[in-house]
Amino acid sequence: MKILVVGGGGREHALAWRLAQSPRVDQVYVAPGNGGTETASRLSNVNLTEPHALATFAQDNQIAYTVVGPEAPLAAGIVDIFQDRGLKIFGPTQAAAQLESSKDYAKAFMVRHHIPTAGYATFTDAQQARDWVSQQGAPIVVKADGLAAGKGVIVAQTVQEAHDAIDSMLGEGLFGTAGARVVIEECLTGQEASFIVMCDGKTILPMASSQDHKRLQDQDRGPNTGGMGAYSPAPLITPALHERIMREVIEPAIDGMRKDGIVYTGFLYAGLMIGPGHDATRPLKVLEFNCRMGDPEAQPIVMRIRNDLATVFEQAVNGQLDPLAIDWDPRTAVGVVVAAPGYPDQVQTGDNISALPQDTDSCVTFHAGTSRQNGTLKSSGGRVLCVTAIADTVQQARDNAYQAVEQVDLASCQYRTDIAWQALSESV
Ligand code: AMP
Ligand code: GLY
Repeated sequence: MKILVVGGGGREHALAWRLAQSPRVDQVYVAPGNGGTETASRLSNVNLTEPHALATFAQDNQIAYTVVGPEAPLAAGIVDIFQDRGLKIFGPTQAAAQLESSKDYAKAFMVRHHIPTAGYATFTDAQQARDWVSQQGAPIVVKADGLAAGKGVIVAQTVQEAHDAIDSMLGEGLFGTAGARVVIEECLTGQEASFIVMCDGKTILPMASSQDHKRLQDQDRGPNTGGMGAYSPAPLITPALHERIMREVIEPAIDGMRKDGIVYTGFLYAGLMIGPGHDATRPLKVLEFNCRMGDPEAQPIVMRIRNDLATVFEQAVNGQLDPLAIDWDPRTAVGVVVAAPGYPDQVQTGDNISALPQDTDSCVTFHAGTSRQNGTLKSSGGRVLCVTAIADTVQQARDNAYQAVEQVDLASCQYRTDIAWQALSESV
């Protein structure tokens, strides 16, 4: 069969790479793809991004089903467009994707369905927002309402910093319409984890747990990014916590959607803040919902899938998901993002990538912001690569990933040197 993967980042490279390993798959098309998916065996790029054009491509090329990676096409209604044309696609509808595309919608949804989350208020008026912050005090969190590629969140340590964030979003239009409304939240503390599930409308299939590193620099310093590295599993998510997350967050979210008249299909990602204490009682709150897999969480998660991913998605698009369909590799996978200079602000692109580590069964370089120009591989985006290794221990997986990162020949780049530090401090 032929499969279409929509997107062009590391997550989509990882999904396409694993799908192409299925003996049932002849070809995986990636739209628009990147410099890695362009040349990999049984993968090919399709230079399309517009949803109607993608639907026509799927129709003309007898695509068995389409898997959507990023949030933007989901928010634009790609699933609705495909379904209207009778095409199979895995992802949430535009209405369901509001869980990610509007933070205000997501917060009201959580309150309505008793899903634990930080207290909040929403504003469109800068002065009212500033007054609220002055009243509440710092630390406090200011979030652009709409999609801002993981960068529209300011965890303000002072009232002044929060006022500046409000002014840049509501006053100066830093995030355009995405920031024309802001959500101001109580600041939570604890450890973060990403909990991702697949849902076919009724059955939920949990992915392995994972943890992202959102800050640019080591020791969680610097600005928030789309994610600088991830690992799976996250030792923090014990079986007891897994069970609580399903019961307190995931099931109420899927049921809540149904009560609101929306059948949820696709990936559902809960970004969680987990406070101190015993697993049975420690605070567990949702920071955000995403309506897709995480990037870079997908890279280590997908690396741990041992069975035929093409069949899992086929079951999902046919409403026949099996909650135990994935055979997880018990080892740990660690992915280190190699980013371009200037990321996440003014990104420098167009640098030659002259050497990459050799892919092996246990270490793969997933491409993100790369493209080929006249056969030469160049950087073309903020996050350039995600080098992902799997091994018996966290330490070994991390060492292998960093050894491979050393072999990347990219004139200038930046990466964190402490990916998976939390897992290392928790494992023996
Ligand atoms: P979000 O896009 O909502 O997940 O926010 C990005 C990052 O900002 C999260 O991964 C957290 O590190 C941080 N963050 C978001 N909301 C809060 C909050 N209420 N309290 C503390 N940190 C937060
Ligand atoms: N890595 C976080 C995200 O994909 O939103």
